[in-house]
Amino acid sequence: MSSVSSARLASSLFTARFATRPSIVASAPGRVNLIGEHTDYNGGPVLPVAIERRTAAAARVADGWTVVSDTEDAVYEIEIDAPMRRSWTDYAVGVVRELRAHRAAPPGAMIAVATTLPIGAGLSSSAALTVSLAKALSLLAGKRLSPAELVEVGFRSEYHQVGVRCGRMDQTIAAHGERGSAILFETATGTIQRVPLPGRLWVVETGLSHRLTGGSLNQRRRECEEALAFCRDWRPGLEYLAQLEPADLPEMERRLPPPLVPRVRHVVTETARTRAAARALAAGDLISLGRLLVEGHESLRRDYESTIPEADLIVDAAVAHGAYGARLTGAGWGGAVVVLAPPEEERRIVAAVAGDFQARFGRWPVTWSTRASAGVRREPIPS
Ligand code: GLA
Repeated sequence: MSSVSSARLASSLFTARFATRPSIVASAPGRVNLIGEHTDYNGGPVLPVAIERRTAAAARVADGWTVVSDTEDAVYEIEIDAPMRRSWTDYAVGVVRELRAHRAAPPGAMIAVATTLPIGAGLSSSAALTVSLAKALSLLAGKRLSPAELVEVGFRSEYHQVGVRCGRMDQTIAAHGERGSAILFETATGTIQRVPLPGRLWVVETGLSHRLTGGSLNQRRRECEEALAFCRDWRPGLEYLAQLEPADLPEMERRLPPPLVPRVRHVVTETARTRAAARALAAGDLISLGRLLVEGHESLRRDYESTIPEADLIVDAAVAHGAYGARLTGAGWGGAVVVLAPPEEERRIVAAVAGDFQARFGRWPVTWSTRASAGVRREPIPS
């Protein structure tokens, strides 16, 4: 990874493309979800960590809307009221529409975005984009939105405008992340609790990128909604799948259509694991935390069917070489594995995992580490 910040990249891209300096730069982090996968749209807890890699938006008021990014050469003139184009620029359109609803959009802007995050690697590049844009553009309009409002703008632009049936985990950690802490976010109540995470996390990328738009995540979400409707016949008043207890599982298994059973089992067991993981992390018990990560991965593999063989190999190899635990992080069907290892051994373990991956798949995976980092912020404009 380059040590150049996303803010500096966005700012120089802005100057190069628009021949003037931006008046606002803001950035937001990607995230690693330690555990609590596919629980956020089922009323359960999640335990994400903001990472050091970020996306930045540099902007200046203009007549129309022009956007550029460091991932391609094109310059896009976007129309906020025109139909979506099925391109990354839809996220910018969605953010502007939602900011208008908050009366926090400028009349138009030139925007340059740049990122140090891998795209489509399950590290929440889309929330880093929407939350950094929401921050930059609202400041450009002279409004200071609260972190909760930035979460809402980011979430609504993805869910209602772009049409990805995500939960609120990614936008929440992008807005509320803090150096040195994971956050336990209870999605049913909205409570956020900081849990110290002093060490490093390692990320091993599978190299297979997922595309969330219209994909498997939406399908799983529909299955969960269908399962909830069945559960309500038996438990009227049940609001979320995550309200079921592990003790309810045998009866759930008898009552639900067989294909939905493992989906609910994942949500219920993952909810219990996530709360146990937050307690283990708070107590500094990394051995128990690691075991929960591996159980979580196994549940994704067997019950939620969202893993891929590349991720399964990385998890198995990490454990075999001495990691506390590892788990596919993010939506799945591609993406990256988070590895938690004893600090004095982490480099050796990750190198050994990469070697095993190369032996099986014939290519080296990209690996890197991160500490828990800060949430969205306004950046000084680099000179
Ligand atoms: C994606 C979504 C999140 C969450 C995860 C799965 O990252 O954006 O809201 O549902 O998948 O845990």
